[in-house]
Amino acid sequence: MQRENEGVLQLSEKQRTILWQRLSERIEQYLREVPDIPVAQTPSVLAIRTLLSSFDFRKPGDPLEAIEFAFEELRRTQVHTPHPRYFGLFNPAPTTMGIVADAIVAALNPQLAAWTHNPLASEIERHLVQTFGVRFGWTPPNIDGVFCTAGAEANHTAVLTSLCKTFPDFRTSGLRGLPKQPVLYVSGEGHHSILKAARLCGLGTAAVREVGVDESLRLDVGALEKTIAEDRAQGFAPLLVVGTAGTTSAGIVDPLRPIAHLAEREGLWFHADAAWGGAAALVPELRHVLDGIERADSITFDAHKWLSVPMGAGIYLTRHPEILTQTFSTAAGYMPGSQAGAIDPYSHSIQWSRRFTGLKVFLSLAVAGWPGYEAVLRRQVQMGQLLADKLRSAGWQIVNDTPLPLVCFVDQRSERGQSAEYLQSIADQVVSSGRAWISVCRIAKGRSAIRACITNYRTVPSDLDELVAALEAARQAEASRKSPRL
Ligand SMILES: Cc1ncc(COP(=O)(O)O)c(C=O)c1O
Repeated sequence: MQRENEGVLQLSEKQRTILWQRLSERIEQYLREVPDIPVAQTPSVLAIRTLLSSFDFRKPGDPLEAIEFAFEELRRTQVHTPHPRYFGLFNPAPTTMGIVADAIVAALNPQLAAWTHNPLASEIERHLVQTFGVRFGWTPPNIDGVFCTAGAEANHTAVLTSLCKTFPDFRTSGLRGLPKQPVLYVSGEGHHSILKAARLCGLGTAAVREVGVDESLRLDVGALEKTIAEDRAQGFAPLLVVGTAGTTSAGIVDPLRPIAHLAEREGLWFHADAAWGGAAALVPELRHVLDGIERADSITFDAHKWLSVPMGAGIYLTRHPEILTQTFSTAAGYMPGSQAGAIDPYSHSIQWSRRFTGLKVFLSLAVAGWPGYEAVLRRQVQMGQLLADKLRSAGWQIVNDTPLPLVCFVDQRSERGQSAEYLQSIADQVVSSGRAWISVCRIAKGRSAIRACITNYRTVPSDLDELVAALEAARQAEASRKSPRL
């Protein structure tokens, strides 16, 4: 029986069958083509807005034309993060099972606010939280966590939970009830979402102490200790320290064990931001890199980074099983009750209505298994080492030291090879050539470097050769621009 409005929002079965087929054909076509298309294009704001100006929605449109528009124009205008020569900002090529999971979630539309609305979905996420907690070295029942939109929300959750743990009255009285101003510590190489989190918690960015780093860009624990002492002397309340496992610019892992030790001694909450680097826990020969993470009070781990599930799948983990409830629970009479032993996700999260983010992680893991992931991650690490070797041979100097597949480099063959302008120009030329996507990052003491990260499980040695060749072409162009022939 046809229901009212079905033809507008739920299309007919015949139309749906054609749409699903076209959708899968277009996805397949994209996956086939992506290694051979330009990695990026840079359309102007005006061009994009002009493209959209024809959509005034005054009359209904054709569904096939609509998906064609989406595929074709996204394909034509985006930076192709699923491209094997996207050496970018931790954005992956999505897993097949992740794409499938996102489609299932869109169709069944599970509501992850109340446990009773979706017991299986809630328990899948709980199961994953426990599983990852164990991989990071924790023991049940002292594991809890919540899926987040992404790493920024997980970091925000960390600051909130640390406030609730350290100042139980914060939950009701807020910051005004605190005896002293809390302050946070993170290295200058840490992610800026910590600054946002401080702002969102009402602490303000001035509460974030930027701790210096050593020569290898790792948080300087001596400097941290000194800053904490100074803050105490000035009447501040040291609250939380962030140790980053895989910094965004240079892929550096802070000295997690010494940070944990100091945090315990000083009574600070220790948060490990392992948004990208946390995946090292899945590779036995890399596990030591995360040594000390098991002593963290909380961890941010983004499955949409190195585990390659589609965006976004942030995970906040903690070894304080009561703290999420303390931080987020509220009594809402209109919410359905839960079963004994079950936890309503809305009482554990910044979010209320929530998408079933965990399915893409669950299905990807169910199909690849730990061995599948281990092999893929190991291969990406090898690609990172190979890239570093190829760059060195081509006269580029590697300026970061990390076992993770992220290479930062400057040009040894040019006298301007360390300057920000020169490096930016090289990166811009590579990107505009469409042959690869790289970026320039700033690392400690105002130094700049070109940054190339192996974000893609499809990257092979010939992709690295192509990047090195594109860099060489840019370098030649720079050289001829500087000394034009007379
Ligand atoms: C170390 C680190 N932490 C947190 C984040 C924020 O994660 P998201 O972009 O998923 O919110 C990032 C993003 O790249 C990151 O590199």
